[in-house]
Amino acid sequence: MQVLGIESSCDETGVALVDAAGAGVPRLRAAALYSQIDMHQAYGGVVPELASRDHIRRVLPLAREVLAQADAQIEDIDVVAFTRGPGLAGALLVGAGVACALAAALDKPTLGVHHLEGHLLSPFLSADPPDFPFIALLVSGGHTQLMRVDDVGRYEMLGETIDDAAGEAFDKSAKLMGLGYPGGPALARLAEMGNADAFELPRPLLHSGNLDFSFAGLKTAVMTQLKRRGNVCEQDLADLAASTQQAIVDVLTKKSLAALKQTGLTRLVVAGGVGANRHLREQLDAQCAKRGVRVHYPELHLCTDNGAMIAMAAALRLQRGRATAQRDYAFDVKPRWSLDQI
Ligand code: KG4
Ligand code: ZN
Repeated sequence: MQVLGIESSCDETGVALVDAAGAGVPRLRAAALYSQIDMHQAYGGVVPELASRDHIRRVLPLAREVLAQADAQIEDIDVVAFTRGPGLAGALLVGAGVACALAAALDKPTLGVHHLEGHLLSPFLSADPPDFPFIALLVSGGHTQLMRVDDVGRYEMLGETIDDAAGEAFDKSAKLMGLGYPGGPALARLAEMGNADAFELPRPLLHSGNLDFSFAGLKTAVMTQLKRRGNVCEQDLADLAASTQQAIVDVLTKKSLAALKQTGLTRLVVAGGVGANRHLREQLDAQCAKRGVRVHYPELHLCTDNGAMIAMAAALRLQRGRATAQRDYAFDVKPRWSLDQI
């Protein structure tokens, strides 16, 4: 079964082809990605209308590129999968519309995929995929969630953010520091040169006794520090970046360990853009190693949005009978959609 996956929920257009033959883990045959970061950079953030227009320009050339890379013909595609939500409505509609038109023309079915399920299952694209059950720490630009994952499609929400996501905390703090967009990688780079103990920043809900997160206060604390200092030198900024990153990483690590302890599970999957953060990986690896916990990450380039994770999530669901591909082509998108509602 050849599954073409299309991702267009935000500022990356991704297309990929996955082969799900037999019962083994589906195999990625080819993938192509176009990032709109350069275009949005001028505006300091994602401009939804521009994102939609650019997805339209990119998606078909990327699909052609994927088929050529895989040495496959368009008729070889058995299912066309697309990101149904959550995300920007107009951007999602581009992927959904193109997927359904393509499938209708080929007389093949479609499958709408939850974007976060794509992130969650993205470690199955690596050479060493995790076994079920595991705890998943989902840390993307808009979501911060801890889930118990018993199988494909069997997800239990253990905790989530009550305000900003970890990615937002990175992005908003970076913006306050004048680091541009996307802020996460820029802040992480600057933090390499800073002292993480230089600023005392809050670690919200660290001792709340539950698995929920709150990061909005951190951004406010960063703003207060910047105002208090007035003119900040390069080193101050690097110190503030390191201290901010440390606060976020501390909370994510502590809550992940608490989720593992609470459930007795010994595997952790970290997915979503913030999962690319080197400092987070180092701290989680060190803490989990002490407790005999295996940590799985997607490959670095698959942490942020891509088509491969959408094709993989669709292939895994279909292979395990956890979804039925549709032939009515009456697509809709779900800009707001909770992972435990699927
Ligand atoms: O999963 P993703 O690509 O998009 C969403 O589904 O939201 O995540 C994007 C988020 C952004 O907030 C970005 O700043 C953050 O991931 N990010 C990072 C790093 N790379 C991406 N945050 C911290 N350190 C990084 N290296
Ligand atoms: Zn994402």
